[in-house]
Amino acid sequence: MPHYGDYQNAIYFAGLSGAVPQWPVDHATLRARAEAHWPPSVRDYVQGGCGDEATQDANAAAFHRWGMIPRMMVDTTRRDLSTTMFGHALPAPLFMAPIGVNGICTDDGHGDLAAARASAATGVPFCASTLANDPLEDVRVACGETPALFQLYTPRDPDVAASIVARAEAAGYAALVVTLDTWVTGWRPRDLNTASFPQLRGAVLANYFTDPAFRALLARPPEEDPQAAIAAWVTTFGRVLTWEDMGWLRSLTTLPIVLKGICHPDDARRAIDAGADGIYVSNHGGRQANGGIAAIDLLPAVADAVAGRIPVLFDSGVRSGTDMVKAIALGADLVGLGRPYCYGLALGGGDGCAHVLKCVLAEADLLMAVNGWPSLAAVRAAGAIRL
Ligand SMILES: Cc1cc2nc3c(=O)[nH]c(=O)nc-3n(C[C@H](O)[C@H](O)[C@H](O)COP(=O)(O)O)c2cc1C
Repeated sequence: MPHYGDYQNAIYFAGLSGAVPQWPVDHATLRARAEAHWPPSVRDYVQGGCGDEATQDANAAAFHRWGMIPRMMVDTTRRDLSTTMFGHALPAPLFMAPIGVNGICTDDGHGDLAAARASAATGVPFCASTLANDPLEDVRVACGETPALFQLYTPRDPDVAASIVARAEAAGYAALVVTLDTWVTGWRPRDLNTASFPQLRGAVLANYFTDPAFRALLARPPEEDPQAAIAAWVTTFGRVLTWEDMGWLRSLTTLPIVLKGICHPDDARRAIDAGADGIYVSNHGGRQANGGIAAIDLLPAVADAVAGRIPVLFDSGVRSGTDMVKAIALGADLVGLGRPYCYGLALGGGDGCAHVLKCVLAEADLLMAVNGWPSLAAVRAAGAIRL
């Protein structure tokens, strides 16, 4: 039976004929190489966060303050990481979080398609962002057999919102992930210092520029007057959502609705009462609000409040397979990888991204093998201890 951990054997055996991995296996080297690769504007947009980036840094650091206790004399020669996502079978509880500048993370400007190809190659679902350089339909096709999620930045114009949601449903996405924390951009000093915001330069707006309802707002099409189209995007981006909008969102689609950005147990309960089909614990990687608590520290209370009624998705600070396993132990059903897969995109497009996913999965699998956890249920039962 193949296991994700076999990736290390492949690396070691290749080493016997002098080959070393084309891309780094460890997070720190991967990040450093991606930072050196990107133009400063892309580097700062991806790496930057809100304020002095304390929340962003805390997200990753907090994982180190959770520990797990191994169990011995357990047969873990076979590990089963498989799970489901809204009725779709998955080989592992990992997905790629929505990253609105994937498009410009690769040298060719088609990073969304590259991430989708990595998804097709690995079986790790891709959550496609509304902000993309390629239309959501093309991205879904590139995901192949692997189920995919579509993340919605809800437009203020209800017709544009309805149109984008309908397109996502028609394209075959498995669920709609509605991001709640980004109707306005948080204060991001790195980007402010260079007065750089990619969308205002026309990047990653393909889903709007190809949308019939958005195009209907324009006097001339985006191909003829891109500046006017960008200005229209500015005025329609970012509807403030309240609980009263859940009925309207529900009326737009039969897809499961996942609410992204839930960090408080009361909001989780309220989301379930309002009909949400999934909760997504995330603080947007510390990009939107500073002064917060690490997302992983908030996960257990939210998972307790959800109490298994609907799936709990999680991201913010996941840097390794060990982090992935800890998030499962602390109540996540599906774990989102964020920035690290962008680094893979930067260095090696779809193949580089797939390499990063395989490294995370191999580390998780081998951790489970060594620590006596043959299944995700065993990981959850083991739990994690706050150090
Ligand atoms: C460059 C960048 C762009 C992002 N764009 C989006 C987006 O379009 N939609 C969204 O819901 N979240 C977006 N996020 C947030 C991610 O989905 C995720 O919450 C975050 O990356 C987790 O933090 P981490 O990457 O530090 O682990 C973005 C994050 C980054 C780093």
